[in-house]
Amino acid sequence: MSPVTPKLTDLTVPVVGAPMAGGPSTDDLVAAVSGAGGLGFLATAYRSGSAVAQSISALRDRGVDRFGANVFVPDSPADHVVDRDAVQAYRDALAPRAAALGVTVPEIPEHSTDAYDEVVAVLVEAAVPWVSFTFGLPSDSDVAALHRAGSSVVITVTDVDDARAAVDRGADVVWVQGPEAGGHRSTFSVHATPPTTPLVELLPAVRAAVDVELIASGGVASGADVARLLDLGANAVAIGTLLLDTPEAGTSGAHRRALNDPAFSETVLTRAFSGRPARGLDNAFHRDLHVLAPPAFPELNTLTGPLRKAAAAQDDPDGVTLWAGTGVAAVTDDPAATVVGRLWAQARGHR
Ligand SMILES: Cc1cc2nc3c(=O)[nH]c(=O)nc-3n(C[C@H](O)[C@H](O)[C@H](O)COP(=O)(O)O)c2cc1C
Repeated sequence: MSPVTPKLTDLTVPVVGAPMAGGPSTDDLVAAVSGAGGLGFLATAYRSGSAVAQSISALRDRGVDRFGANVFVPDSPADHVVDRDAVQAYRDALAPRAAALGVTVPEIPEHSTDAYDEVVAVLVEAAVPWVSFTFGLPSDSDVAALHRAGSSVVITVTDVDDARAAVDRGADVVWVQGPEAGGHRSTFSVHATPPTTPLVELLPAVRAAVDVELIASGGVASGADVARLLDLGANAVAIGTLLLDTPEAGTSGAHRRALNDPAFSETVLTRAFSGRPARGLDNAFHRDLHVLAPPAFPELNTLTGPLRKAAAAQDDPDGVTLWAGTGVAAVTDDPAATVVGRLWAQARGHR
């Protein structure tokens, strides 16, 4: 008999700590959100299977059993269409900036799904309670393996058609990501223009189209937002940006500084850093490179990596990713448990 998959309705606090790859998500952040009664998510993108396995063991060693892990679904080799000339032109455009930082732009990487396969195998083996997929659908066999392990399969979508496709693929939970969200938009194709329907309209449309549990995310800034999204059909509400400046997050110093600097207040959607559209605070890197960036993920992410790292080492907010959603003005540096507890206390006051 297959094990019973966990339910969002069993959470004492229906607040999810969004996975935030590239530094912000740490074991401490996951433990703090889950410890507050919510659901913390590990980010596995850009990490090795063994590093992910270590995080999972470390969480379990400290008594955290209720948590999720997120993976970025790569294109299948047949679907991976990249204009290598455009990527080469972007590489050339990055060169002067790299030289000024004392680094070189890497060669354009070959496409591979090896890291993804390795991480999914680790998540199946560890029977992680919630496993979420971003940028596409997992294979039928991966869904079946996760279900055999007792995991709840979560798929992040940005429109109603993708929500239906997610449920057809076996999703137990659809994560509805609105255009207000910080970080990457989870369109299923790197070439897609991300939909702009606000979360408060997208969520009820998805609720009407599919009959599974829903997580809603994007621009959440207050308990009133949480209450409204629960009223619109979400079973839990996820926050990313609100956790970025908590002490438990691994957010870079430059990113934290920008979050608290009125000079960096507007958020923009850009492919400049990674080749996929992502929302972050407007900075010089975005302004200089946005119009030149072709749709090519993870190629552009690899090319910009050393530049971003060098800028982070110099504590320069104009050269790093400053992912943030439209609710960024509500960020505080309170501990994650305080942020989650306050949001839920306010939300209950509104229901
Ligand atoms: C710094 C940062 C990193 C993110 N990394 C991921 C990720 O690794 N996987 C993912 O599915 N979503 C990622 N997201 C998007 C979140 O899952 C979520 O949809 C978003 O944070 C919600 O919007 P909010 O930031 O306005 O709360 C990231 C968001 C941020 C701000």
